[in-house]
Amino acid sequence: MNKTLQKGKTLLVDGPASINISSGTAEVFGAVLKEGKNVLVRSGKRLPFEAKTNLTVNIMLGEGASIDEAEGSTIPDTWNNIPEEILTLETPAPIIMILGGVDSGKTSLCTYLCNKLLNADKQVAIVDGDLGQSDIGPPSTIGYTVIKRPIIDIFNAKAENCYFIGFTTPSKARNKVIQRLTEIKNEISKSSVNYIIVNTDGWIDGEEAIEYKVRLIEELNADLVIGIEQNETLTPILEKVKPRKAMVCKPSKFIKKRDRAQRKLLRELSYKKYLKNAKVRSLPLSWVTIKGAPLTFTNSYRNIQQIKELQRALDVKVFHFEESRDKISIVIGRNKWIDEERLLKFEEKTRKKLEILREGFEEGLLVALEDSQNNFLGIGVIRGVNYKRKTIRVYTPVTSEISTVHVGQVRLDKELKEVISPPFLTNYEVQKTV
Ligand SMILES: Nc1ncnc2c1ncn2[C@@H]1O[C@H](COP(=O)(O)OP(=O)(O)O)[C@@H](O)[C@H]1O
Ligand SMILES: [Mg+2]
Repeated sequence: MNKTLQKGKTLLVDGPASINISSGTAEVFGAVLKEGKNVLVRSGKRLPFEAKTNLTVNIMLGEGASIDEAEGSTIPDTWNNIPEEILTLETPAPIIMILGGVDSGKTSLCTYLCNKLLNADKQVAIVDGDLGQSDIGPPSTIGYTVIKRPIIDIFNAKAENCYFIGFTTPSKARNKVIQRLTEIKNEISKSSVNYIIVNTDGWIDGEEAIEYKVRLIEELNADLVIGIEQNETLTPILEKVKPRKAMVCKPSKFIKKRDRAQRKLLRELSYKKYLKNAKVRSLPLSWVTIKGAPLTFTNSYRNIQQIKELQRALDVKVFHFEESRDKISIVIGRNKWIDEERLLKFEEKTRKKLEILREGFEEGLLVALEDSQNNFLGIGVIRGVNYKRKTIRVYTPVTSEISTVHVGQVRLDKELKEVISPPFLTNYEVQKTV
């Protein structure tokens, strides 16, 4: 379908769609698109094509896609003077932190600023601190990229490096995120990048969110904080980081809101992208280190006699056990129970807490695979642990040598849909209520 647009108007395209500029010049978030340029608009994403001259485009719309037309630019006026303000920052590789609620246009503002700074011949790194709606790297990771050419969708930029956090909710991983972002900042500061733009998650309401965002700003030592807000929602955060330099701007009126289900769907598209061409790999547990799980699977060879004793004491088949100073963790069959009295007696006798996990507790958990230097190689999904063969099966596109399987708390089913699962079963109380 061909579409003509007068200079000054904006064509809003909701993906999945493919747009080809037949004649004229358009701008998307500050990136200039000339005749012949082809752009893919992802499912769940809206892109504004602003006609800088009279414009003709050829559009192909996928299922559920649509177009609309807006008078003038959809970029808020309050965004226009931000690049100039950034260019006045004098510290080497200043940190510019973007704050805003869910769907406030944080990613779009990052894209816009990056393009404007590129136009001023500056090199920009984008650090993605949004675990749930990641632009760089798969969900539950934080990553960064250095942008060298104008960009339309950060999702297509190649991650320079990625760190696995294992959660898609920032409230559950505050310290980890701050620590990793600081490391990334230090890593980038050593390069020749002129500006570091840090995108954040949309968790801004409530005491805990405010405290978290304030800590993030302080610990990364942001040189400029840019808040996208309507109705002074960011005031409590910006008040607390005074006299740090801060600016507020408005969200675009043309933002496409996504509900919880759509955000989940977008994450699932992302898992699919990063699990493309995945195959099941069977890794001997003696070759890899398991990190982040309730079990390390390391002493599975030890002491058959001890397993036998445990089985006798608890009257249940024990597939695997691990012992530490104050607890014993065991894996039992999927539908097995341990008599409460026996359990209490056992804990009393051993003076250790008994942690009960069931066979299959690990199935579907999202993992990151790392090499011997702890570099991120890619993601995977655990298909299962075989206690007899002492192997862990992981569905992953990673083909190189794996040293560490870093287990997260996101669970995916066979179709790579996120499933809500109870926490790992670890004590009798949980056992009783499930
Ligand atoms: N100025 C704008 N014009 C048109 N669409 C926009 C504009 N700003 C944002 N959007 C669209 O609205 C949606 C949400 O914006 P996004 O930047 O992803 O928000 P956030 O990162 O805060 O969740 C995206 O599809 C984005 O492309
Ligand atoms: Mg975003």
